[in-house]
Formats: sequence, structure tokens, C-alpha cells
Amino acid sequence: MGIVYNEKCRTLTLQTRNTSYQMKIGNLDYLLHLYYGPSVCDADMSYQIRQYDRGFSGNPYESRNERTFSLDAQPQEFSTQQQGDFRTSSIEVVNSDGSYSFHGKVTDYQIQKGKYRLDTLPTVFAREKDTVDTLQITLTDQISKVQVILLYSVFEEADIITRAVRVVNEGTASIRLKKIMSVCLDFLNGLHMDLVSLPGRYGQERQVERQHMTHHIHTIGSVRGSSSHQQNPFVILCDRDATEDHGNCYGFSLMYSGNFLAEAELDQYDQLRLVMGIHPKQFDYELKPQEIFEGPEAVMAFSRDGFTGLSHLYHDFYRTNLCASKYVTEIQRPVLINSWEAAFMDFDDVKLLEIAKAARKMGVDLLVMDDGWFGKREDDNSSLGDWVVNKDKIRCGLDHLVEEINKLGMKFGIWFEPEMVSEDSDLYRAHPEWTMEIPGRRAVRSRNQMALDMSRKEVQDYLITSINQILDNANIFYVKWDINRSLADIWSNVLPAERQGEVYHRYILGLYRVMDGIIKTHPDILFEGCSGGGGRYDPAMLHYYPQYWVSDNNHPIDRLKLHYGTSFVYPVSTMGAHISDSGKLVPLRTKAVVAMCGTFGYELDATHLTEEEQKLCKEQSELFQKYYPLIFKGDYYRLTNPFEPGNMTAWQHVSKDRNEALLSVVVTNLTCNGPQEYIRAKGLIPDVMYSVNGSKEAHSGSALMNAGIPIEREVPEYTAFQFHLKKQEQTVNA
Ligand code: GLA
Repeated sequence: MGIVYNEKCRTLTLQTRNTSYQMKIGNLDYLLHLYYGPSVCDADMSYQIRQYDRGFSGNPYESRNERTFSLDAQPQEFSTQQQGDFRTSSIEVVNSDGSYSFHGKVTDYQIQKGKYRLDTLPTVFAREKDTVDTLQITLTDQISKVQVILLYSVFEEADIITRAVRVVNEGTASIRLKKIMSVCLDFLNGLHMDLVSLPGRYGQERQVERQHMTHHIHTIGSVRGSSSHQQNPFVILCDRDATEDHGNCYGFSLMYSGNFLAEAELDQYDQLRLVMGIHPKQFDYELKPQEIFEGPEAVMAFSRDGFTGLSHLYHDFYRTNLCASKYVTEIQRPVLINSWEAAFMDFDDVKLLEIAKAARKMGVDLLVMDDGWFGKREDDNSSLGDWVVNKDKIRCGLDHLVEEINKLGMKFGIWFEPEMVSEDSDLYRAHPEWTMEIPGRRAVRSRNQMALDMSRKEVQDYLITSINQILDNANIFYVKWDINRSLADIWSNVLPAERQGEVYHRYILGLYRVMDGIIKTHPDILFEGCSGGGGRYDPAMLHYYPQYWVSDNNHPIDRLKLHYGTSFVYPVSTMGAHISDSGKLVPLRTKAVVAMCGTFGYELDATHLTEEEQKLCKEQSELFQKYYPLIFKGDYYRLTNPFEPGNMTAWQHVSKDRNEALLSVVVTNLTCNGPQEYIRAKGLIPDVMYSVNGSKEAHSGSALMNAGIPIEREVPEYTAFQFHLKKQEQTVNA
């Protein structure tokens, strides 16, 4: 059983294959956090907690003259407010009398088989073969009757614990929720811990940053209305000496696509608290009596094998338990060509067919018609919201165009940006009130577009109907779902003044409803997410889309960093990666090797390639198909860190049985008369002989991992190498 209640010591232990997570119903029924880390089974870990009078740290009234019990120093499972704990809180609620108090004490707990679900938000799921148990703990404030229900699901084999939170107003008056965190995790000593995050910007998403914990609150978050390019809802807390292969690492990944916040606070006693959830900025949610608020799910993992160990836990779990699309496991993804960098909005049906014909020679299976096919869209100043085919461009009609593409033996894909509206659009002219604009003020424009008020049901219904109509009337195989701005002018016409603090979150709830109404009703369509490249690349989005466009930056050398950072939590199988014209000095083959660290495709005008280039592309498309099981199902290893000085970047995919591997290297910097360099493989079986690229050359796993592979020196800049390693029958000693 993954969850055990020990009656004697009142501990609740969550047990996965390799980890234990323990809490205790402690003094005065406060819920304390005792432990998260390598398995200790259900041994009582409360011996670690020491109580002494610490001064200037308040004591609950019921402690009477006992001055050693203070929530300011006790490790808590869900930090509350106004109870003498001055560290960051997990909840801020304004009661009907105006007080900001929540005294949550344990009033109930339940252990059940299976995974909990949230009614309003996406979550991971359990497959039939998974052993999953759920714990639900209720904390009640006896005065306001507000309840906080903490939900935990334990995925035993996967070494994953998920958490979520529900707030239930059991009182008789409305309350206002101002902050609600999905995770709170206290560490008794955090002085020697680091926080790793994935900051970035447009075109440079998910770069990796690491900071030492110092005595203040370190915050990572987004207030852009989406999880953003600038930060990602994923953080790692790790030992100061943790490396790629060694050391304790804790991961926190939030299933939410809107504003989020992670706070890591090192307190006066060197204790560390991590909270993560919806960002409290402009968040003010009214809960009437009997109403329920759900906070998003957080997916937690622990590994003592450094960043690689942690990444593997997330990759394996997110590959199997996050997205139910059949393109995740059952069907191999096609090689696609996208029209954007080939033609931008300057295309018509004839041009698309020409690109498709040329691409077919390159082993491409799918043509994607990107932005520019709808309304009167000639540039980015108009037509968003008018999801009807532009007959001046697609003169033969969409269904006919798709048929022609299908006749070439190719599939057809299409682009949408559902959440946006142009001022110059029929939709805006008909329904200006559907746009997020504050009465009397002109809305902030970004790329000359505005956001629809996704919290409105009519808007959601309009999008579901108009987009489904397109999808149902032609043989559409693939959809790219884009969003190209951050939100501002947060306002909904249908909510009263005092409820405008709900709009950020209601936007996201509305978005998920639209995605349910379009994506889940089209199980045969392959969806790819996009937000000006890789903004909003988060697990909630990956619940809907099996793949996501990593970045608008297609430069293959920049891509090395982009793929490296993204891979800290997201599996390669989710990473949209294409070959484009970007990177003029980089050979086409190197671009292909880089794009094979993802879903592989093209983003260029295929008609401009020479026959020789088309032939090379065909070979690369075929190689990708050949290595697909290895890339999509194998273990991914970062062999070098592209953020550190070095002359090459390398990574590796290793099959689960470790019989086969693909090791890729890009020479990023040529030094004059430089030394011989070696790349060490990872994850092989030491005493097995591996052939290299099908030749007679073979080395033991041990040699490849410890001595490495010498990389040829006299090569042009940006040369790429791929080493396909295959287990031989012969053993090392034979
Ligand atoms: C975003 C996407 C691009 C392309 C354009 C179209 O920038 O990231 O790939 O789809 O929008 O406008």
C-alpha cells in the first residue's frame, strides 16, 4: 500500500518505489511535514523535530504556558496565516468579518485506491497497470468553517507524488480567496540547497539558471496571463553539490497554464519552504457558501541521481500519464513541413501544393498550412477570430486542397490562434464586448491583436463551434494551436466590479473548456501547441497536446541550449523541432541531427532546395523514422552542458533495454590546433560490446562510458556526428 497511517505516532506516510513522504497530525491537530526523500518506509520521522523557545515566535493560544511550540519554526504541510508563522503562507483568505485568518486543523483524512480527479482542471491520470493510491486530508477552520482539502496521489512504480488542493466554504457567508498554493514543502535544513529554474524570453525559452539559497524569498513566476516564455512552472531544489549524475534533487512541476508562483524561502533557522501555485497577483476569488475552489495539480519527484535521474522520472511519467492522445504511444508521429518560414502569409493553394510536392521528395508526410488562410488575413493586423477560409487564397476550397495533398500521399494540417481577436475582424465588429478591454480605456495591443474574454461562455461556445466546423469539413490530420501575446487589460464584461480578480483564472478555466470541446472531441487529430514558439510550454498544455513548438528560434546552435533546458522536465517526444533556413553557416545535416532531438520536421520553402539537398533531407527523414523508437521511448541523457565553455554539445538516447543508443554531437567551436576531444556515453551496459554505426568497430559499454568516443578533429565548423551503438552478441571477455 502506497499510503500508511500509523495510529500510534499519528503519521501518514506516502511510499513510492524509492521515496518516502511523511506528515504527522501533531500538537493541537496541526498537520506537520516530517520528511521527503529516499525511502525510510513508515519509520516515525518525528524525532527530527525539536521544540524550544525561540523568542519572537508566537505560540497558539491553546499551548498556554508552553512556549516551545510555534508554527513559526515547525515544518508544516500547508502553511497558514495569522497563526504566528511569519514565513510565506499557502493560503490567504478574507473572511466575511474582514479578518485574514485561517486556523486549519486536521478534522479528517481518507485513504482510497486510484487517482483523484479535479472537476475544473487537467490532471495526470493512472493507467490500468499503475498502482495508485490517494490521500485526502481535511483542514478545517472552526470559526469560519472554511475547509482546505489536501489531495495526494502516490504513483508507486513511477516514483511520483501529485498534490492538489480544494477550498470548500462550509460557512454561511462568502469569503474571498487571495492566495492558494498547491504545494507547500518544508525542509528542516535548506542552507546548502540550490534552486534551479528555467527562465528565458521570446526566442530563448527555458535556459537553465541555478541560485544558492540565501535568507529571503526567492520567487519564480509569471504574471503574463500564461505560464510564459520568461519562466516555466517547474523548479528543482537540489543539494549544493548536486550534478547531472549525482545528488539529491526535488522537482516541482505545476499543471497550470496561467499566472503561477513558486516561492522558496530560507528562514531565520535555515529551514527552507517551497510553495507553488496560482500567482496571487490580481487574484481575488469569491467563494459563496458551499462553493468549491480547486487549485492546480503539482507533480513532485525526488531523485538521488542528480538532474538526469530527476529528468528520467518526469520523462517516463509525462510520456505515459499526462496526455491520452493516441499519438503519444500508439501511432508514430509524421515528418511535417510547415508553411510559416517558407511563405509567411504570402501563399495560396497553388503555392502550398508546390511546397507539398517538393516536400514529398524529402520524405515528408504532412503539410501544415500556418497563419494566413482565414478571414482577410494578409498580414498580422487583421482577421484573428474569423475562422473562415479566405477564398481569395484557397481558391479551390479547403476540402479540395486537402484532397490534392492527400493524393500526393500526404496528410494535411492547419493553424489556429483561437484565443485572439483582431480589431479589424468581423468578430470584433460584431462582438466588441467579447474582448478583454476595460471600459473607457484603450486596450494594450501586442502584435496588433487583443485577447478574447475566454471566461465568457458565449466566447467559448463560438470558438468550439467555429473551429470544429473547419475540422469536421475537411480531412484535417493535424492542428497547430497558437497564442501570440501576453494578457493585459484583465477585465470581463460579465463579472461585477468586485469579481474582476477572478478573470485571470477564469480565462484559463475557459481555455481548458474550449480545449476539451475541440481536442478531446477529435481524438484522431494530432495537436501541437505553440505560443510565439515555446511560451506556455507547461504540463497542462501537454495534457492536451502530445507535442509543443519549442521556440520560434530555429537556429540549430541556439536550439542546442533550448533542447537542453527543455529536457530538464519535458520529454523529447514533446519537443517540436524543425530544420529551417536559420543558421546559414550550419550544414543541412547538422540541422537534421539537431531536429532529431524532437519531433523532426521542416520549416522552409522546399521548392528552393536543390535536388541534392532534397535527397539529403529524404535520407534524414528516413533516419529519423528509423531511430524514432529510440528517440521517443528511450532514456535521454545530456552529455555536455551547452551553457558551459566547451567545443561541442552532445546528447544521447538509450533504449530501455540498453541494447541500443544514438549518441549525437555538434561541434560548436573549432579551436586552432586543439586537443583531441572525447565524448563519454552514458546509460550503457558496461560489459557488453557495442558496434559503432554498423561497422566492425566495437567497444565495451565500459570503454564508451569511461574513456569515451574520440571526435574527429579536422572537420568544418558545426559538423555533427551521430554514433549508433548496437549491442553485439560477443561479450567483453569473449
Ligand atoms: C507564432 C508561431 C509561429 C507562427 C506564427 C504565425 O509566432 O510561433 O510558428 O505560427 O505565430 O503567426
